[in-house]
Amino acid sequence: MTTGGIYENPKYYDIAFSFRDIPQEVDVFEKAIKKYSKIQVTNVVELGCGTSPHLGELLSRGYVYHGIDLSSSMLEFAREKVSKEDLERVHLYKEDMTAFHLPTKIDFCFIMLGSLYVQNRSELYNHFEAVADVLKPGGLYFLDWCINFSPIAEYEDSWVMEKEGVTVETQVKGQYINKVEQLLEEKIKLIASENQSKKTFSETKKKRMIFPQEFLILLDYLDSFEFIGWWNNWDFTQELPGKKTIERPITIIRKK
Ligand SMILES: C[S@@+](CC[C@H](N)C(=O)[O-])C[C@H]1O[C@@H](n2cnc3c(N)ncnc32)[C@H](O)[C@@H]1O
Repeated sequence: MTTGGIYENPKYYDIAFSFRDIPQEVDVFEKAIKKYSKIQVTNVVELGCGTSPHLGELLSRGYVYHGIDLSSSMLEFAREKVSKEDLERVHLYKEDMTAFHLPTKIDFCFIMLGSLYVQNRSELYNHFEAVADVLKPGGLYFLDWCINFSPIAEYEDSWVMEKEGVTVETQVKGQYINKVEQLLEEKIKLIASENQSKKTFSETKKKRMIFPQEFLILLDYLDSFEFIGWWNNWDFTQELPGKKTIERPITIIRKK
């Protein structure tokens, strides 16, 4: 039985995507900042922040956190994680990542799990122009899984996570709906088992693939960012292409 959208049910989303080692990922952010940022970082923004899995770790390391997302339920779930004392260091906005403005300039920007949901070239330009506008010169934009290094970009994956008696099976499938526009339809399905009952949540979104060479041409065209590099699996010793299967690649660019 389908019981709703994934982003309206953040509790199950949070379990499904809890396979990440968050402190280790924040270590990688800090390594990137130390190596490549030209400015000190005191505040960060996460685009498509959802339930903000990195929020607690970032706050504990002293950063001010900004997050933008389209889903009120996801933002509310993120806000509920924050203690009263920390609330003044957290700013969550219901905004679209293809057209957003923030009231303050940002030192470090990041986007996780291939969440760069643009559907065409103009949204792609608008997204990077909005990031360029909000990021301070010398600041980094860190992208997780957003550039597609395989020309056959269709994908299928599934995994199971468990937390406090709730088991969530996740199925993800991306299939081309328009090869000229490089447009895929991504379907995410969660099957949650809790108290001997099953609930199914699903989300279908269109997503334009971004290939490496067009990404570099886009950066040249925009002239607002320097390309810093891309690495496999969050590991700075594995510069791409490398010899291993490409998995969760990260890409870093810096605002000029
Ligand atoms: C896969 S989740 C990632 C959530 C979180 N960043 C994480 O690491 O778990 C993708 C998120 O992007 C949000 N999203 C999708 N399209 C968006 C858009 N155009 N602007 C802002 N947020 C968007 C969804 O609401 C969802 O919360």
